[in-house]
Amino acid sequence: MIGALPTAASLYERVRRVIPRVEWPAFADDIDAILALKRERNAAILAHNYQTPEIFHCVADIVGDSLALAREAMTVDADLIVVAGVHFMAETAKLLNPDKIVLIPDLRAGCSLADSITAEDVRLMRQRYPGVPVVTYVNTSAAVKAESDICCTSGNALAVVKSLKVPRVIMLPDEYLARNIAAQTKVEIIAWKGRCEVHERFGPADIRELREAHPGVTVLAHPECPPEVVAEADFAGSTAAMSDYVGRHKPARVVLMTECSMSDNVAVEHPDVDFVRPCNLCPHMKRITLGNIRSALEENRHIVTIDPRVAERARWAVERMLFV
Ligand code: 13P
Ligand code: SF4
Repeated sequence: MIGALPTAASLYERVRRVIPRVEWPAFADDIDAILALKRERNAAILAHNYQTPEIFHCVADIVGDSLALAREAMTVDADLIVVAGVHFMAETAKLLNPDKIVLIPDLRAGCSLADSITAEDVRLMRQRYPGVPVVTYVNTSAAVKAESDICCTSGNALAVVKSLKVPRVIMLPDEYLARNIAAQTKVEIIAWKGRCEVHERFGPADIRELREAHPGVTVLAHPECPPEVVAEADFAGSTAAMSDYVGRHKPARVVLMTECSMSDNVAVEHPDVDFVRPCNLCPHMKRITLGNIRSALEENRHIVTIDPRVAERARWAVERMLFV
């Protein structure tokens, strides 16, 4: 039996601590429409941890970091998948669901890391370092993944590097993630010069100022931050690992050195934790809205397509990562 759909009015209770009541009417109509459209179209919404709380907590079916979204995409039971995230995440979902329609609500939702490297760049790196395996961050195009031996996310990068059992790897394209992983292993890591435009803006001085202003604050950082930031943080991990840390340690006061919506989403689950919020917005993640999710479901747009010659090799690199 199909149960009654939740309504926007009933969902407000969940997010009332992070969305002011005066803002709610602007969301309610789209939320009710999206919930009805999902049922009508047998659609599932995959939302990254950086999506705003009205998306993350009110219309998403599956939420998580890049690794969790990729894993869940393998088993999602729906005819249609809408990715509330950036383009590389939608491509990963499509790679793992070649027979399903995968939609991204705004094609401009890119990523500075994905833009920092091309397939030709990877081929040139291989020529320069013959025989050295290429570990590629999932924050890349399918064409770049297709040139790689294996993918990784911030959640499994160290395990992926170790799994190769080699003395040297090429790790693309995030220079900071590569350096942060290099600090944890004896494997030599050859990096590229890509940066996340959101995380590169954090500096160690920010942490020192925060500690001064909020004595005892726990500082969590994403491994896309510069190594000097990670060195001064109390913990560094993927978006899911940061969220788990808050759940396990219940710090009285915490700061997440990452994208802004992350704190809102985690705060909903932990009303007893005080979140200090210096954060940086990801303009690409913020291109996804309730309005364009609704249009995506109403108008079947934008359909994610991948050249089949690229898709086969890229899928292999992603699937290989999922078995580490
Ligand atoms: P996570 O895999 O940790 O969620 O990170 C994805 C991302 O784009 C971070 O900027
Ligand atoms: Fe890309 Fe950085 Fe935005 Fe993540 S936060 S999608 S790495 S630009």
